Amino acid sequence: MEDTVLFRKQYVISADDPLTFGEASSDIKKTLKQLGVPPDVIRRAAVSMYEAEINTIIHGGGGEGEVFIYAGRVKIVFRDQGPGIPDIEKAMQPGFSTASEKAREMGFGAGLGLPNIKKNSDEFTIESEPGKGTTVTIIVRL
Ligand SMILES: Nc1ncnc2c1ncn2[C@@H]1O[C@H](COP(=O)(O)OP(=O)(O)OP(=O)(O)O)[C@@H](O)[C@H]1O
Ligand SMILES: [Mg+2]
Repeated sequence: MEDTVLFRKQYVISADDPLTFGEASSDIKKTLKQLGVPPDVIRRAAVSMYEAEINTIIHGGGGEGEVFIYAGRVKIVFRDQGPGIPDIEKAMQPGFSTASEKAREMGFGAGLGLPNIKKNSDEFTIESEPGKGTTVTIIVRL
């Protein structure tokens, strides 16, 4: 029963308070530990989720996250109604960043988040419409 959802959780991703940045990713990391998922798989899922969560905050202005755990995989989705990504291929290139001065002061903006998600996930899709928003979907096999 590969497609039975064993666990599902939704998160509101707010861009208001830096102390809460990354909270959803930390929460899922704990859940995967409790489920006995192997450490390397947890690391890949947590890194991928963290990068997408931070992008939702610093580029998307906040949004929502949703995580589904199935017997063989975890699916992570982030949606925002921010500016969107005009050229996804360009955004995927290591070093490309449009991070604001404020985001850079917080240590973001190396342009390595999306390449990092690609490296650490098994499936990764970005749907984006300039002016409307962005949806990122990540799958990591357990
Ligand atoms: N949710 C999003 N909404 C709008 N633009 C985005 C979003 N996610 C990524 N981008 C665009 O893709 C670029 C590359 O993202 P990436 O995560 O690789 O780097 P970064 O966030 O700029 O820096 P880093 O992740 O290294 O701190 C961003 O600078 C931004 O232009
Ligand atoms: Mg990033």
